[in-house]
Amino acid sequence: MILKRTIVFVLLICSCFVQNGIAQTNTSNTDESKVPPYTLPDVLKMKDGREVKNSQEWNNIQRPYIYHLYEENQFGKYPVKKIAGKYRLLEKDEHALGGIATRKQVRIYLHPTDTSVYTDVLLYFPNNVKKPVPVFVGYNFSGNHAIQNDAGIMLSQTWVPTKSKGAVNNRATDSSRGAEASQWQVKEILAHGYAVATAYYGDLEPDNPDGWKTGIRTTLKDVLKIQPEEWSAIGAWAYGLSRILDYFQKDKDINANKVAIIGHSRLGKAALWAAASDKRFALIVSNESGEGGATLSKRWYGETVKIINEKFPHWFASKYKTYGDNTDALPIDGHMLLSLMAPRPLYVASAEGDTWSDPKGEFLSAKEAGRVYALFGKKGIDVDNMPLLHHPVGNTIRYHIRAGKHDVTLYDWQQYLQFADKQWE
Ligand code: GCU
Repeated sequence: MILKRTIVFVLLICSCFVQNGIAQTNTSNTDESKVPPYTLPDVLKMKDGREVKNSQEWNNIQRPYIYHLYEENQFGKYPVKKIAGKYRLLEKDEHALGGIATRKQVRIYLHPTDTSVYTDVLLYFPNNVKKPVPVFVGYNFSGNHAIQNDAGIMLSQTWVPTKSKGAVNNRATDSSRGAEASQWQVKEILAHGYAVATAYYGDLEPDNPDGWKTGIRTTLKDVLKIQPEEWSAIGAWAYGLSRILDYFQKDKDINANKVAIIGHSRLGKAALWAAASDKRFALIVSNESGEGGATLSKRWYGETVKIINEKFPHWFASKYKTYGDNTDALPIDGHMLLSLMAPRPLYVASAEGDTWSDPKGEFLSAKEAGRVYALFGKKGIDVDNMPLLHHPVGNTIRYHIRAGKHDVTLYDWQQYLQFADKQWE
């Protein structure tokens, strides 16, 4: 009798796990009470089972190991080959935005000989501040002309998604100008004494499953000695951000030791991978980067690994797809990606209405990364529970959740700028 009961109990438990497993992968959950238990890989546990004791062990052993796990399982190989950058100043206006800014547009050639492979960077510098200045850099979603209604910005000539404002036949038009202006609080950034730089991520690889055919995974394949399938669209976007940073090191108006990288949503995932791959990015902002970015994949809430891979097969390395039905097998999770930022200042932000990115997962992930920051004597997030809306928490790792939808708002920028002011005072 007892044996029979035990068997029934065990079977019940098993079927419950299976149900969770199936539900977790195919559907999205937004009911906190339904989140099943999950176990995060211990970020400080080394391959040989020992715990990382100090920052040297982190830098020399554990960080390279975790970084490699990311290359292998999620983003693909990151190119190691260096190409000497070539740059051309396309345009400069010292009286931009009514005289408060200097605008520069610079072409960054990504191929040593083929001049058709490039990305164009738009920069605004504050006019009333002594140079060099720190800079905030990030990609935009539909072309540089979208970040500001400024007729001096060259209209992007490359493929843009059909849903981009004003797009006709996947090309930007004049009515696309300023479409993303609310997500780029240019005047606010300049008022803090920072420059702002942006490029269109589609210059590196158009964001569609065939984008790799015309993007840098193809055009640079012989130069970088990596086959397209060995890396990913997010890898290509991340690589481009570092080439922009190479340019910053040549521009005497920029303080290249104070480069803050920012990315929203899929571009937040790319920004995190860029900063993990390139320690020259001095401060990192993840704005609602969600699944495959700051949040926890093993926590069944919002978008899942299965869903993201089905919808965006080009974003990640092929191995990532094998975890869709089994997130338990993933040797990594968002807290480990965030740990790769240590000890640099890191801001993780969520929005209440953006359940798809799992705000609580982003908070828990940012908190957990604090264990690595502690090795460097830095304080992460020192509260246990999710803060109230509009109540940023934390120190070298900071976190907020604001009201509203999936977006980048003035409120978000104000927090990032204050954070940078404090870190760089
Ligand atoms: C989709 C995707 C998210 C992504 C977002 C975005 O919603 O599922 O993972 O962050 O697009 O980039 O806007």
